[in-house]
Amino acid sequence: MKNINPTKTLSWKKLKNHIQEIKNINIYDLFKIDKNRFENFSINFENEILFDYSKNLINKKTIKYLLNLAKETKCIDAIYSMFYGEKINITENRSVLHTALRNNNMNCFLKDNNIYLKINKILNKIKNISNNIISGKWKSFNNKKIKNIINIGIGGSYLGPLMVTKSLQNYKNHLNLFFLSNIDANQLISIINKINPEESIFIIASKTFNTLETITNALSIKQWFLKKYDTNFHKDILSQHFFAVTNNINSAIKFGINKNNIFSILPEIGGRFSLWSSIGLIISLSIGFNNFNKLLLGAYKMDDHFFYSPLNKNIPIIMALISIWYNNFWGAETEAIIPYNDNMYFLPMYLQQLNMESNGKYIDRNGEKIHYQTSQIIWGDVGTNGQHSFFQMLHQGTKLIPCDFIASASNNYIDYKNHHLQLISNFIAQTKTLAFGNLQKNNNEKNIYYSCIGNKPSNSIFLKNLNPYNLGMLIAYYEHKIFIQGVILNIFSFDQWGVELGKKITNSLIKDIKEDNYKNKKYDSSSQALINFYKKYN
Ligand code: F6P
Repeated sequence: MKNINPTKTLSWKKLKNHIQEIKNINIYDLFKIDKNRFENFSINFENEILFDYSKNLINKKTIKYLLNLAKETKCIDAIYSMFYGEKINITENRSVLHTALRNNNMNCFLKDNNIYLKINKILNKIKNISNNIISGKWKSFNNKKIKNIINIGIGGSYLGPLMVTKSLQNYKNHLNLFFLSNIDANQLISIINKINPEESIFIIASKTFNTLETITNALSIKQWFLKKYDTNFHKDILSQHFFAVTNNINSAIKFGINKNNIFSILPEIGGRFSLWSSIGLIISLSIGFNNFNKLLLGAYKMDDHFFYSPLNKNIPIIMALISIWYNNFWGAETEAIIPYNDNMYFLPMYLQQLNMESNGKYIDRNGEKIHYQTSQIIWGDVGTNGQHSFFQMLHQGTKLIPCDFIASASNNYIDYKNHHLQLISNFIAQTKTLAFGNLQKNNNEKNIYYSCIGNKPSNSIFLKNLNPYNLGMLIAYYEHKIFIQGVILNIFSFDQWGVELGKKITNSLIKDIKEDNYKNKKYDSSSQALINFYKKYN
């Protein structure tokens, strides 16, 4: 991968001039002068996903300059480097292989049969355990059927499985799912109050098996379970009820996990890119392995599109370039993710980690301090709920907030068709209102307080259906969009060194507060006061 400072490219300079030319651009006028604007600014991906980017502050010249930026920053070379397994994760000296996890067509992209043997071994293990638990064949230590699956994990070991299982809840089986992520015991208590441990399986999902929140939660759950039963049951309890998903096999065995219950993760799989790996075990348990495989297949189809499509017909590349256009040239600091499907409630939260943990960096790939914007701030909520909370600001606020509106054209509920009609009508109406407002000539809005100036940009992402196949495509193209943004912005998107310092300070604070020796430590007056306030009540 080349390490090119984007601001030094000719395209960047052209875009800086271009923004001066078109800063008074108006989406309404753009549609008036180009009757085929939708055709020219949309991509229909195999009738599975319709990507409409016509309601943006762009014209053909903008797209030309942005595509040249992708060329000058060697995006295509970077795609090949990632897919072929080059060590592009330089600071961790690793390749980046989440695409290999769903590369069903073994003879393309990465040529490393050893990796595929490992991946398929893990997939077969996931398939077998999923079938055994779902069918009821797998029993508790005292011969009961399993009803509850509890995933103990945080960050990428939580958000991906949470988002996917919620998005695909129309495909879920009888198993009840619980996600224990936070160190705040409120979450743990609320879960153990709802489950009978004898009917429950606990998956300790942690690539490193040393994330403080996860290991503390896992130990508390283990103690809570074991102390209910005589010690001669303990070995059976561990072997029938505790699983580990990790790259750190030794620590899992030391914790007491039966070797056969350990699902490994390749070190080259980043946490926030890991739902396709054994971190997705709870997904397979929830929707069945066949549907998990369809999720992988959808992602593979998008990988294929991303790898082979020309720049101007490449959804992830176009999305990445539009984000850079707003983030780096229009000064838009945030992007809103607004799924018009209540099952996608956790998508904004999932994309927060994927985007901001990947591209929230200030040092470039040459080790230089960056003097331009990197990750945008990702936020959002489902529609139509957002229309009754923050949409006022989208329509009449002073900030430029590009939005991704996401919906599924067909739904999975048999009755209540009128609900889906209303939902999709809102989805289309909102992007239209944001784009065109009510101030055009044929509108005679007199009351200034009712006026909506429009010209607010959005992408419309229309899935055929929120099924495993389409969801796999959607997630994969956000992964690739974020990757391309990182390539262009000349940053390393696959490490997360920024979170290490906080962990270190937390560990020393825990020790100092526990041992009451924080007074002679050189804590700043604020931390000192906060510790004192805590100690007053504990
Ligand atoms: O937030 C830091 C991080 O390392 C994430 O990248 C990761 O997904 C999460 O913590 C959990 O890490 P692990 O799976 O090793 O417990």
